[in-house]
Amino acid sequence: MTDPIAPLTSKDIHNAKSTGNDDAIVAKMRSLIKALKIHNHAYYVLDNPRMEDSEYDQLRRSLLELEEQYPDLVQPDSPINQVGDMPLSAFTQVTHDIPMLSLGNVFDYDELHGFMRRVNDRLNDAQKNPEYEMELKLDGLAVSLKYAYGKFMQAVTRGDGQTGEDITQNAKTIHNLPKWLPTASDIELLEVRGEVLIPKAGFERLNRLTEEKGDKTFANPRNAAAGSLRQLDPCVADNRPLAFYAYSVNQGLSEHIKTQSAALEWLKFLEFEISTVEVVQNPREAQDYYEYMVETRNDLPFEIDGMVIKVNSLALQQQLGFLSREPRWATAYKFPAETVMTRLHAIEWQVGRTGAITPVGKLQPVKVGGVTVSNVTLHNFGEIQRLDVRAGDMVSVHRAGDVIPKVTRVWHEQRPADSEPVQLPSTCPVCDSPVVLPEDEALARCTGGLFCPAQQQEALIHFVSRRAMDIDGLGASWLVSFFEHGLVKTVADIYQLHKHQEELITLEKLGEKSVQNILSAIEASKHTTLASFIYALGIRGVGETTAQNLAQQFGDLDSLMAADIDKLLQTPDVGAITAELAYKFFRAPHNIEVITALREAGVHWKKVEQVASEGLPLDGQTWVITGALDSMARDEAKAKLQALGAKVSGSISAKTTALLAGGKAGSKMAKAEKLGVKVVGEEEFLVLVGE
Ligand code: IVH
Repeated sequence: MTDPIAPLTSKDIHNAKSTGNDDAIVAKMRSLIKALKIHNHAYYVLDNPRMEDSEYDQLRRSLLELEEQYPDLVQPDSPINQVGDMPLSAFTQVTHDIPMLSLGNVFDYDELHGFMRRVNDRLNDAQKNPEYEMELKLDGLAVSLKYAYGKFMQAVTRGDGQTGEDITQNAKTIHNLPKWLPTASDIELLEVRGEVLIPKAGFERLNRLTEEKGDKTFANPRNAAAGSLRQLDPCVADNRPLAFYAYSVNQGLSEHIKTQSAALEWLKFLEFEISTVEVVQNPREAQDYYEYMVETRNDLPFEIDGMVIKVNSLALQQQLGFLSREPRWATAYKFPAETVMTRLHAIEWQVGRTGAITPVGKLQPVKVGGVTVSNVTLHNFGEIQRLDVRAGDMVSVHRAGDVIPKVTRVWHEQRPADSEPVQLPSTCPVCDSPVVLPEDEALARCTGGLFCPAQQQEALIHFVSRRAMDIDGLGASWLVSFFEHGLVKTVADIYQLHKHQEELITLEKLGEKSVQNILSAIEASKHTTLASFIYALGIRGVGETTAQNLAQQFGDLDSLMAADIDKLLQTPDVGAITAELAYKFFRAPHNIEVITALREAGVHWKKVEQVASEGLPLDGQTWVITGALDSMARDEAKAKLQALGAKVSGSISAKTTALLAGGKAGSKMAKAEKLGVKVVGEEEFLVLVGE
């Protein structure tokens, strides 16, 4: 048998494999222990994690499962029952009066049920199905505070659970940590425990400053908080936006207080900051509250990684006690990980409608934020260089709310030795035409134009989309299949599909009814608006807003097609690049052919009512709308502004008169501030439009 304490060598692994089951289990345990120890040290001592928390949880779970299955093989140095890591030596060591323990985890409703069942198993009939109390699981550092006769005396970190570090001087710099509790002046010794953390906003500020100074930024708020608390110079801690949230009274609680929720209320009365307190009666209510917090966690000012659910009665807590290092009366109900690690096994290049070549990362499928993700956009070649990512790398993938998943970190230290830097393809992966990367642009482009089948296909899909010709019923997959069978090549061919009814029915086993539906949808789409038609053409740089502005400006298609660059430039939203692209578009013989064919097939629109803006209150003004408005859809707001004579543009420039900003306004807001463009809130806007 191998020495269980010595580090695992490849020989051990080899022997384990060849000598039988127990050794193989031990070898597996040892390698998990090794990985966990490396992580613990990096996390707790160096404040510089080497893997995502979710990854750590998984390793820990694997080890725990093995230990439960093979209790005889549990290794004496297993970190499972150890909390944190050895304390650092620079601070005075303090032994906790009562050990600071950790919490078990549950990850779904079944496991939550399991936890509550285990609680019930230890209670008598009258006590079964107790009330529970739920709190946020704050993602910071556990700290114990002591007050003597109301005066703040000492703060100690959790350390290894038995002994921590005296961080009193640094804790004094935490602005919301009460230094004096007038209403507790008769309590000889009060011990309050809670979490020290850095709120999200403070974290971003801190990292910005750290970056400006040229120092290494913190991986997350938790590490920033840990690093700040461990500063030997309290002046440094004083400049860090630390905050303290209390979650328990461990000594000095009045006997009149019988529940955890009441204890927290009392802490609040003493002027401690506490997190939310929710009392629930059964697993269903607990699950509801948990799901509510999953939805709203991003709105909180600080990061949380789950909920803590505690038996509310302090007497029952006492009765239930502890199992090794975890309370039987509480557990952490973890959130689905929003950041997980997985392998990026390939980088593929996709060609868009306008020929833009964008890299797509192919992932080992993984659950993030509750859904399985197997592709991730890498935006452009510059992003690949910025991240320094290669095929084969382990990456962190983040997905919060309904946000598109993205790669937030590349674990370079885990890079396979044989990986190679990513090259921008020199030719289009679809049509083999040369690829160009214009000097001041982020996106590489295929030069094949409509010769490139990928661009042809994307152009078709764009043409039928809802905001373009809105050919409801002709989905992208049918369209691509018609394209592949040579039934449609250009968008004009869509209006000739009725000549191929028989073929369509046999070709796609579509059935007569579905073919009829598609054909009537195509027929119905012939009646459109000029703006939708211009947008549907897919001219580079002409999005929906620009298309509407062009329709307004020119009133009919012929004038637009005949316009020179100067005329085009008079349209709001149209800059030099778009003007040139549009000008060229209407001069390409192929495009003129397609447009003519479309009109001949019967595509038409009602006359554009050009708003005479002269004399209207907002005449001559250009507005931009951003964010979500409470009282109306953005399209409505736009129509109201236009009715008052304003032009509405999609992007901010120095020419913009005002930015109408709804909730969650993002980069446009920042740009407006930078350019000194006036920002108008929803209320002011409503007054302006007379509502
Ligand atoms: S109660 C006996 N309540 O989670 C354990 N802990 O994994 C008592 N934590 O060390 C802990 N928020 O750092 C409790 N509302 C909360 C918490 C919380 C965060 C942390 C704490 C603890 C760790 C356990």
